[in-house]
This record gives sequence, C-alpha cells and structure tokens, in this order.
Amino acid sequence: MSQRTYFIKTFGCQMNEHDSERAAGVLEMMGYRKAADADSAGLVLFNTCAIRENADNKLYGQLSQLKPLKLADPSKTIVVGGCLAQKDQDVLAAKAPYVDVVYGTHNMGRLPQLLAQADSASLPVIEILEHTEMFPSALPARRDVPHHAWVSISIGCDNTCAFCIVPALRGPEKSRKMGDIVAEVRALVADGVIEVTLLGQNVNSYGRDLVRDGLVPSVEGQRRNRTLFAELLHLLGEIDGLQRVRFTSPHPKDFTTDVFEAMRDIPNVCEQLHLPLQSGSDRILKLMQRSYRSRRFLDLVVEARETIPGLAISTDIIVGFPGETEDDFEGTLTVTEQAAFDSAFTFKYSKRPGTSAVDLDGHIDTTTMDERFMRLSTVTNRLSAQSHQRQAGTVQEVLFEGPSKTDPSRISGRTRQNRLVHVDATSVTVPATMHAVEITRAADHYLLGRVTDQPAGPAVPTPVVQPVAG
Ligand code: 5AD
Ligand code: SF4
Repeated sequence: MSQRTYFIKTFGCQMNEHDSERAAGVLEMMGYRKAADADSAGLVLFNTCAIRENADNKLYGQLSQLKPLKLADPSKTIVVGGCLAQKDQDVLAAKAPYVDVVYGTHNMGRLPQLLAQADSASLPVIEILEHTEMFPSALPARRDVPHHAWVSISIGCDNTCAFCIVPALRGPEKSRKMGDIVAEVRALVADGVIEVTLLGQNVNSYGRDLVRDGLVPSVEGQRRNRTLFAELLHLLGEIDGLQRVRFTSPHPKDFTTDVFEAMRDIPNVCEQLHLPLQSGSDRILKLMQRSYRSRRFLDLVVEARETIPGLAISTDIIVGFPGETEDDFEGTLTVTEQAAFDSAFTFKYSKRPGTSAVDLDGHIDTTTMDERFMRLSTVTNRLSAQSHQRQAGTVQEVLFEGPSKTDPSRISGRTRQNRLVHVDATSVTVPATMHAVEITRAADHYLLGRVTDQPAGPAVPTPVVQPVAG
C-alpha cells in the first residue's frame, strides 16, 4: 500500500459513531493516519447502518462513486463493516465486488488480520460472526472530539420490536462488567475527557444478563436497592473531573423511579432523557410488540418532569407502521402534544426483511405515509420551537465543541439539556471549555447567545401536562 492513510464514513446511530472511533483507533495503531476525504485516502472504511432502507441506498450510492477511483488505483483499499455488512454480506459482494474487506457487527477487532488477508486476495475477504468476541470498548479509540467519549455499557438487544432489525444484527443483550465501565471512564477522564455518553440499545436493562448469569448478586442485593443502571450512574457521579454524563437509549418499559432519582440527585448526570414513543396508539404499540401503553408512557413523562428539574425529553416516533389507521395516527399526534417533547426524531416506517412487521397486513402507501410524516413533523417542530423559545433570556452552562458546521463565524456547544447553542466565534477561543451563555434568540433547532459573566441558572422546564384518562 503506497499511502497509509484512512477515511471513515459513518452511517446511522451513535453506537456506530462509537464503533468508528474504535476502528480509527485500530487503524492508527497499525500506522494509518487520517486523510481529509475519501478520494485522497489509501483506505476508505464505510461503517454501515441497516435500520431503514434509505441507509442501504446511501451506502450503495457512495460505494459506486468510489468505484472509478478503485479501478484507477487498485491499491486503494475499501472496507465495509457494521450492520448492513452483517445483514447483506452476499448482496454487498455481488453489487460491489471491488470491495476488499467486509466485516460485521461482532468482529471489528479482527480488522488487522482481515486487511492482511485482503493484501493477497483477489475476491473480497468476508468475515461475519454470529457472536461478539470482545467488546469494541476493549479496542483503542481515536476520539473525534477530545473532551467527549462514547462508552458502551451493553451491546445487543433482548427485545423483539416488530419493526427493528437490530436484535438480528447485534445479537442478544450483553452487558459489560460495571468495574470495566468505571475503569474506562476513569482512564478517559485522566486523558482529558469531561463528558461521556453511555451507549446501549436498551441502557436501563443494563446488567440483567449479569444477574441472570450469576456474575453479580441479584439486583435486590445491590447497595441501596438500586437497579444496576442507577447504581452505575451513582458510581460515575463519584468521578472527579467528569462533568457531564448522558445516556441513550432507555426503553420506556424498563424505566424505574431510581433512575429518575439518580438523574435528579447526581450533579454530573445531565437533565436530558431520550424516551422513544414509537406510536401513541395502543393498538399499534401492541402490533409493534412494545409492551408499554400510551397511558404508562405519559405517566413516565410526568414522573420524569416532576422529579428532574429542567428536564428536556426527546423521542423517536415512527409513522405508517403496517395497519396504522387515521385514528391510530391521531393517537400519536395526541400523545405527542401531551408529552410536549422538547425534540423528536420522526421516521417513516421502513420495511426491513428479517423483521416480523414485514408479514403484517395493511402496509401503508407512500402518499399516506408522506402526509402523516408532514403532519407529525409540523407538531414536533412547533413543540421544539416552543421549548427553545422558553429558554430565551436565561443564562445556561454551555460546553463548547468547535466551529459551527454551517457558519464558521460561530462556535457551537450544548447545554446540559443537549440544546445546540451558537455564539460568536471570537468569544470562545478554546474549545472543550464550559461558559455561561445568555440565550438571546431561539430558532426551531438551535439557540443563539452571548457569553456572559453572570452565573448559569436552570433551564426553563417544559410544563407538565397531566395525561387525560384513556
Ligand atoms: N422503520 C422506521 N424507523 C425505524 N426505527 C427502527 N426501525 C425502523 C424501521 N424499520 C427507528 C425507531 C428507533 C430508531 C433508532 O429508529 O424509532 O427508535
Ligand atoms: Fe430495536 Fe426495540 Fe431493541 Fe430498540 S429496543 S434496538 S427498537 S428491538
């Protein structure tokens, strides 16, 4: 290989961001250096996503763009890893035979060996395993942002949500030992990290498998009767220098009061909660095999907002799940209004072969899907704009990350509630620093402000709406 440089293109979720940082760490350990873009890199790695069909299309589009470069320079190495590789290894090799290495969700640590094999192979080297050999967290990382780290606390998922391909690709839930997580976070803090985001498909069932397998005493035997996830938050709360702890994603069905109390009581745990609703119709939730119902969901929202001052709640919602009627969809709009989400990720249902929803009756046509998506987006955009407007005039603690992606005259950061804030770039010259910012203007998806000497105060909470009987 002439140039030992690499470029990683990440699709999909935060778990993939985390995995890409590990893949970068492995490549740097092998002597590779980061290139500015895919065209100039000696090795291009696509870390793929399979959650919705448009992620597939994007990958194949980008791969075909690289094809002429690969044909012109056969020493260019193309690697495809992650969820879509796990799902579609054969399709991939057939559609893009010029790819050098394909690996799945369980074997990123084998990248050096697979690259070595590819050096002397004429066909793509494909290795897909059914089970994880080691947690990616055990691999070295090259973090994109020096002050922030993703920390995986569990991998896989034991749920069977009918629309979701993740359990088939990432396997059953496997939790990392608490001592290993705490040790990793301590080492990260010693290395300059001040904010961590704990990652898992279902973070609040963390440790259930450890208890089942006898690797920790029963949850009841834990200190102060806490679930293991709440216990983990408390342990991270004791780490000096760790200023912000976030986590994603919890499952509404596994929420326990001790986690809300931990979020209230532990100063470094941020007032931010991602609580995926998916649908506001009980009939659709049942078809989705999500075991909570809308009333329980709204009760959780009320409990969370009443327990944690200044909390911001985000969510995921799918429109157009098979069988969704206009009534069902209106149920989603009603619950969305009542939950008053501070922000929302909204999706059109996407058929994923290998999931049980594919076999349901009543798949929704694209016109209805598009129309419902627009109606839902109108509501969620309004709610997030209102949530932002409430912050105008407050002074909040902002952790700055770097120049704004769209306007280099601004520098961007996040409040504890994870709201994006831009200020004039001349006022914050050192990234990764925390400043008090007076919020001067609110847009739908960001806030504008100015750095101030006044002390930061709390965010303005979203008013609690008591759920109506139903
Ligand atoms: N179609 C549309 N959205 C999906 N999600 C998961 N699977 C699908 C699918 N087949 C959404 C869910 C999940 C988020 C990460 O992606 O809302 O919470
Ligand atoms: Fe998918 Fe449901 Fe597991 Fe989330 S909880 S990863 S949506 S199966």
